[in-house]
Amino acid sequence: MTYKNIIKKTTSNIGYIIINRPKNLNALNKETIIELNHLIQDFDSNKNIRSIIITGAEKKAFIAGADIKEFMFFDQENGQELAKNGQVLLFDLIENLSKPCIAAINGFALGGGLELAMSCHIRVASINSKMGLPEVSLGVIPGYGGTQRLSQLVGKGKALEMIVSGSMISSDDALKWGLVNYVCSQDELIEKCEYIANKISSNSPQAIAKAIKSINSSYSKDGFKTEIELFGSCFGTEEFKEGTNAFIEKRKPDY
Ligand code: CAA
Repeated sequence: MTYKNIIKKTTSNIGYIIINRPKNLNALNKETIIELNHLIQDFDSNKNIRSIIITGAEKKAFIAGADIKEFMFFDQENGQELAKNGQVLLFDLIENLSKPCIAAINGFALGGGLELAMSCHIRVASINSKMGLPEVSLGVIPGYGGTQRLSQLVGKGKALEMIVSGSMISSDDALKWGLVNYVCSQDELIEKCEYIANKISSNSPQAIAKAIKSINSSYSKDGFKTEIELFGSCFGTEEFKEGTNAFIEKRKPDY
């Protein structure tokens, strides 16, 4: 497959994925999700690759969320499909990989972008990064597992505050709250991820795969189904239309 929205790189034991839509702050459209699904499966089946590093092109954004311009005219059914397909093709795929996936968060990680980082096994953020789930400002809720994985990582209290306020947090707060494992300068980001990846490479791949499976086994999947249904139902509201139009028109929504 040729990739239009992502860049593939490999070294002897690491597979790199760079999301490359900088004009849209690397927002995830359907095509990018399909490309990511192919490349991640390709890396997962390649025995030489022992871990995967995902980052965003250029210095401003890791991923600024799902592509609002693509979904703003969706109805409830399309909304549900968006969440379901995305979760199956990408977010659940990453979480259940047989090898660790490291998110190198190099800037804004918002909405679906933070959700992608949270489905990775390890997160390293550069000091300039800002993280948040701003979906409620658009009249929708996180639909790529954010209502589930954020609570798992930072606890229900902080997750609720982040989701209902839609606020962004700094990389330092993300570190304090356990949302990211490390914070470093933008220049050192990939090096730090490679250091972790190289440590992983010296361990047993089969044991690592079983450890990931075992850790994941204690998290219920019912919440993800509920999220898909509720995410879809947001697309039937006037508030969703107001929220997405306000984003495109670069104004504050009037709820
Ligand atoms: N989707 C589509 N395009 C996006 C985008 C997104 N999520 N985020 C940014 N862009 C585009 C902007 O529309 C803009 O394009 P134009 O030049 O054509 O106008 C370009 O990227 C640059 O963005 P800004 O001009 O807005 O840059 P800024 O520096 O003023 O602001 C920002 C940066 C705060 C990250 C702002 O872009 C922003 O708030 N983005 C949206 C974040 C968001 O709401 N994400 C959640 C999406 S919903 C979701 O993810 C649902 C889900 O869970 C499944």
